[in-house]
Amino acid sequence: MSKVAPAGSGYQTAGEWAPRIVAFTCNWCSYSGADMAGTARLTYPANVRIVRMLCSGRMDPLFALKAFEEGADGVLVSGCHPGDCHYVQGNLYARRRLEIFADLMELLGLDPRRLHFAWVSASEGVKWSELIGRVTRSVLEAGPNGEWLSAPTAEFSSAKLPEPGPPPRTAPTRDANAATTSHLRQLARRLLEEGEVSRVIGYAEGAQSDQMVPAFVETPEDAERLVWNERCYANLANYAVHRSGGATALIAKTCDAKSIAGLLRENQLRRDEVVVVGVSCSGIWHGDRLAAKCYGCDEDVSPLADWTVGPDGTARGSIPAAGRDTSPDPRDAALEALSSLPPDERLAFWQGEFDRCIRCYACRAVCPMCYCDTCITDKHRPQWISAPQSGPGNTSWNVVRAMHLAGRCSDCDECARVCPSGIRLDLINRSLAQGIKRKYGTMVSADPAVKTALTTYRPDDAGRFV
Ligand code: FES
Repeated sequence: MSKVAPAGSGYQTAGEWAPRIVAFTCNWCSYSGADMAGTARLTYPANVRIVRMLCSGRMDPLFALKAFEEGADGVLVSGCHPGDCHYVQGNLYARRRLEIFADLMELLGLDPRRLHFAWVSASEGVKWSELIGRVTRSVLEAGPNGEWLSAPTAEFSSAKLPEPGPPPRTAPTRDANAATTSHLRQLARRLLEEGEVSRVIGYAEGAQSDQMVPAFVETPEDAERLVWNERCYANLANYAVHRSGGATALIAKTCDAKSIAGLLRENQLRRDEVVVVGVSCSGIWHGDRLAAKCYGCDEDVSPLADWTVGPDGTARGSIPAAGRDTSPDPRDAALEALSSLPPDERLAFWQGEFDRCIRCYACRAVCPMCYCDTCITDKHRPQWISAPQSGPGNTSWNVVRAMHLAGRCSDCDECARVCPSGIRLDLINRSLAQGIKRKYGTMVSADPAVKTALTTYRPDDAGRFV
C-alpha cells in the first residue's frame, strides 16, 4: 500500500507519499454506493481501503483509533442517510457517538482533516467518488500521520494552564460535620436494627491520611465508626454492586448518586438492593481547596435519596437544593487555555500526559461505571489496545476509557484522584460532558429513568457529516 495513486493524479505528493485512508462503511448503503461507483466506471483515488460493517451503528471509535495506531493517515465513516438505516436508528446513534469522538480528537490535537463522516446511499456512486476525492485531498493536506506514532513535534509547558482562583466556598464548620455525623449514625443504627438493610456503606477515619476511607458497617454498634466531613471524597457506589444477603444502605453525595442512578439504569443494580442515604454535602475539599467537581454542583442532595441526612436532622426522601454556586469551574479555564493552543501544542500536552500512564488501570478499578467482566484493553484476540506502557497504546487506552464513559460519567472525579501519575483525566471528562451538554442539552442525571445522551438521539441532531 505504499504507492496507491498514480503519479500526477493529484492524490500523491511530489515525494510519492500517498495518504492511506481506512473507510468504515455500512453494508447496505455506503458499501453498495462504492460498488455502484465501480459499476458505473467512475474513477476515484485508490487510497481508500474499505472495511465493511453491517451498520454504521456498529462503528466503535476504537476502530478508528486502531486504524490510526496501525498507520492510517485518515479515517472515513459512512452509512445510510437518516431514515434509510436498515436497522432503523443505527446511523442516528452513530452520529452522536462520532460527533463526540471528533470533539475528543480535536481536544487531543488530532488534525481534524484526518477524520470524516458521510451519508452515502446505494445509488450515490457519484457522491461516493466525489467524497473519496475530497477526503483524499483533505488527508493529503494534513500530511503523513505521525501524530499517534512519533514523539511530539511541539513543546508544551504546564505553566500555560491557568491556576485555579481562590476557593469559592468556605469549608463546613466542625459543628455542622459533627451534627451530620451524629444523624448519620442514628439512621444507620435504626436501619440495621429494623432489618431494613444488612449493611451500611459509609465513611470512617483513615489510618494514614486525612481522606476518609470506606467503612462497611453490619451491626448497630458498629455504626459509631461512621463519620461525615468535607474529606469524604470517595465514590462508594462501586461497593454496592454484587452484594448478596440483603439490601445495602449507601451514603451518597450528589455526584455519587448519579453513579448509583447509572448502575440502576444499566441494570447493574436493582432498586430494592440499595437504600440511598443522601448526605447534605456542601462541597468536598482536596488539601486546602474545594474539589473542582464541586464548583458547578447545584444540588445538596440527590433526588434519588430514600433518606437525607444533614446538620439539621434526618428526612425521608430528598430535600430541596440549596442554590447554585456560580463560581467558575477551574477546569473550564484550563480547557479554554488548551483549546486556544495550536493543535500540535495540544497534542504535545496530551502526549506528555499519556506518556506518564503506567497502565495500572486504577482509573478503571475506581470507576463505578467500568464494570465489564473483561475490559477491552485486556482482550488479546484481537488485541485492540497494545500492551506496552508507552506510545500509541497509552493514547488508545485513555481515549477509549474516556469514550466509554462519555455521557455516563457522573463527574465524581475518582479516576483523576487515584491516578498515580496525575494525568488530567478530569479535563477529558469535563470536556466531553460540556460538549454533550452544549450539543444535546443533557447532563448525567440522578434519575435512572432519564436516558444518557449517547443512548438516544434526535432526528435533527447536528453532525459534521458530509
Ligand atoms: Fe446503513 Fe445502518 S444499515 S447505517
